[in-house]
Amino acid sequence: MKNKMYCYLPIFAFFLLGYPNGYSQTITMEVDMSEIVSEVQPTMYGVFFEDINFAADGGLYAEMIKNRSFEFAEPKMGWSEPNSDRHSLNNGSGMASVIKYPGESSNHNYLGITVKNDQGYSLINEGFRGMGIKKDALYDLSFMASTSQGSFSGLAVHFLDGEGNIVGGADIPIQAGKDWKKHTAQIKAEATVAKSRLRITFKGTGTFNLDMVSLFPKDTWRGRKNGLRKDLVQLLYDLDPGFLRFPGGCIVEGRTLAKRYQWKKTVGPVADREILVNRWNTEFSHRPTPDYFQSFGIGFFEYFQLSEDLGAEPLPILSCGMACQFNTGELVPMEELDPYVQDALDLIEFANGSLDTPWGKVREEMGHPAPFNLKFIGVGNEQWGPEYIERFKVFEKAIRDKFPQITIVSGSGPFPDGDYFEYGLQELKRLNAQLVDEHYYRGPEWFRKNAARYDDYDRNGPKIFAGEYAAQSVATASPLNRNNWECALSEAAFMTGLERNAEVVHLTSYAPLMAHEEGWQWTPDLIWFNNLESYGTANYYVQKMFSTHRGSHVVPITRNKLPLTGQDQLFASAVKERDSNELFVKLVNTGDMEMATNVKIKGGKVAPRARLIRMQNDQLEAVNSFGEPKNIGPQESEAAMKGNTLPLILPPYSFTVVRIGTK
Ligand code: AHR
Repeated sequence: MKNKMYCYLPIFAFFLLGYPNGYSQTITMEVDMSEIVSEVQPTMYGVFFEDINFAADGGLYAEMIKNRSFEFAEPKMGWSEPNSDRHSLNNGSGMASVIKYPGESSNHNYLGITVKNDQGYSLINEGFRGMGIKKDALYDLSFMASTSQGSFSGLAVHFLDGEGNIVGGADIPIQAGKDWKKHTAQIKAEATVAKSRLRITFKGTGTFNLDMVSLFPKDTWRGRKNGLRKDLVQLLYDLDPGFLRFPGGCIVEGRTLAKRYQWKKTVGPVADREILVNRWNTEFSHRPTPDYFQSFGIGFFEYFQLSEDLGAEPLPILSCGMACQFNTGELVPMEELDPYVQDALDLIEFANGSLDTPWGKVREEMGHPAPFNLKFIGVGNEQWGPEYIERFKVFEKAIRDKFPQITIVSGSGPFPDGDYFEYGLQELKRLNAQLVDEHYYRGPEWFRKNAARYDDYDRNGPKIFAGEYAAQSVATASPLNRNNWECALSEAAFMTGLERNAEVVHLTSYAPLMAHEEGWQWTPDLIWFNNLESYGTANYYVQKMFSTHRGSHVVPITRNKLPLTGQDQLFASAVKERDSNELFVKLVNTGDMEMATNVKIKGGKVAPRARLIRMQNDQLEAVNSFGEPKNIGPQESEAAMKGNTLPLILPPYSFTVVRIGTK
């Protein structure tokens, strides 16, 4: 009799709930939309930008000429001279030498080219692992030139494909003379080539001086000169980020203090921005990138402008007088900290100051008289120990005294636990710090285990900026790490915990943001690109599902009155959106079995149908790629409500956002 009863039970359940049989249990969750847990800050899901992996030069910054002003440590790096005298004195047709400008300036070198015959002396720039050109697209070339002797009628510029064939070009007449003049030309590409090069051929003989050779696609983001790569900004725009943190990362700190990021050197005319070696250039012996420098073509003005374009709060982070503690850990003595503090105060003036202030004026001269409305500033990146706390206090006092309305971001070091973290967080709590940046680069299992990390955080303590995180499939910063589905799914599970705790967690961002297919140093990364294409990883779509369903208020979602933090491998959070009266329920099944669930909505009336946006893959190793950019991406469908209950089967390894209209 007992056995017979069991036989009927699944059928009974099917009639009751509409499920096929075979589920060992049905998990019932309750969402109470009448109970507000907390607000969700508009800044909740943002982006972290750092010039690592060719993210700026060679990536987002659309400049195609590498080493355009001959300022790299090897001043001719990226350039070749196929028929130079250097290769053969008798058969060569000329030679280029690096010449220093007299006196002090931020632009140190130019190229002096002696052309001795009409045999077609030329220079070739290789671009950033090639130059991506698209058939029929237009490219804007410009350069500074003067001639000191002989006569030149002009230059011929050509795109070359991999075999050396010409795939587009232009002739540029030259006004000879000793004064430097800017010349421009437009080139139409005759083919799509992923790795083209630009050849400049000199017509005439004598000495030709060349500097600031620059080439941009005409079609940049918003058509701006000195602009950004459109496809990459579009990917950021689609995330609808709440903030843009810049310029990093460790790049802020520098390996030594002299090599730190100094924002004042990144504003004003582009040609005057002094180039600096990129700290990721030789950071990892397994991924050396000796041709990685910062041109600062994207500088602080451009970062503010990008924030504005994205509708994101700008969040600059500045050096606090400590070089990277993983490198030299060089410290500025306390009595010499003033210039660093002044940089922070001046930055706030640059962003927000009126036009009669010195830095407000610079902003106006750069074309943005309106303030950028800066609300946050970060002091130091990933510093730790008493040396940091001591310096942070000085910054905090100075900023608080002069700009009390600005929220100051402090840091708790590079790790999510351990001595450095415990010490930092405790001290920052004692100081009533406003917003503390936490970083976690850990294995995917860490993310699944830590979904309840913030459940017990003090609601009256500092607010949290989960400023850098990414699940590492092999080990932190291992070159073998992949942006696989297990990592993305585990991040989704963890993010339900961030969202449930939006009362404490005010900002979050995945890191790093971007990587060039060939020019990267660190993996995993949210977005991958080459010179022609780009794609969002599975992790990108997880971020997007959260950020585009941010909601305005957290509401409780419970199972047996408890939050869902991974019991039976199920994670959940719920928010409602004040403006649209919608409920967004996020459900993550990290298990390898389908899961039968009922989502019961209390506290109001709901629409008869719900929309489901789901990411799912049976293979935890699955990844997106240039060939299959949406192998793992959100799929949309609909489901019927039964009264106020949504019966829902959660597939194995799935992340689902349920959108339910409410009254
Ligand atoms: O995101 C890569 C690096 O990781 C960042 O520069 C640094 O802050 C962290 O250690």
